Amino acid sequence: MEFNIAIDGPAGAGKSTIAKIVAEKMNMIYIDTGAMYRAITFLSIDQGKTTIEDIVDLTKQAKIEIHGKNIFVNNQDVTHSIRNLEVTNNVSKIAQIPEIRILMTRLQREMAKNKGVVMDGRDIGTHVLPDAEYKFYLTAKIIERANRRYEELIKGGLNVTLEQIKKDIIQRDRQDKQRAFSPLTVAEDAVIIDTTKKTILEVVQEVLSYLKKRGEGVVL
Ligand code: DC
Repeated sequence: MEFNIAIDGPAGAGKSTIAKIVAEKMNMIYIDTGAMYRAITFLSIDQGKTTIEDIVDLTKQAKIEIHGKNIFVNNQDVTHSIRNLEVTNNVSKIAQIPEIRILMTRLQREMAKNKGVVMDGRDIGTHVLPDAEYKFYLTAKIIERANRRYEELIKGGLNVTLEQIKKDIIQRDRQDKQRAFSPLTVAEDAVIIDTTKKTILEVVQEVLSYLKKRGEGVVL
């Protein structure tokens, strides 16, 4: 595969679901960069680190690996632990630390250097892989994004209210968009897809049709 695909957008826009399916259909490698920031957040909570200095040190020494659907930090499989509410509510703060973003960006570029990668996040098309051959920006109305997260968490057995989830999403959007270092913005050359009221399949088809129109070998 001679190209990379960057997929950015706010929480709950459907990025990871769509990116995973597109990668599978295109026989590409899926990389969830949010999971990397979550892994660092999990590690700092787990080790009781609270100062920026300590968290940066921890990150410098951490070994983060993605194997298929699983993410490992220092050889520990943290795939499930990084989705808990404590990590979710603290990850934006950690993702604002410039030194941590620099370290993660370096790792992400390394992972994408041989092409054939579908990478999702907030700053992939704008900062991590500005030369990515294809860029998509997925978005959806706040209420729809909150509903999706709510259903997901309720299914996972968590006791949350829709109102709380909506508040958390608004707060996380604000932090992701307003941070000084590589904030969430739309890349100039990104294709914007509003996923509100669209099914997963419809969005996947939209992405694949776009690639096909550009001459890539896609089986729709
Ligand atoms: O997509 P997610 O909810 O797993 O992302 C977790 C957090 O990490 C989110 O608050 C934004 C941040 N993030 C980031 O700053 N840059 C990325 N490339 C990916 C995620």
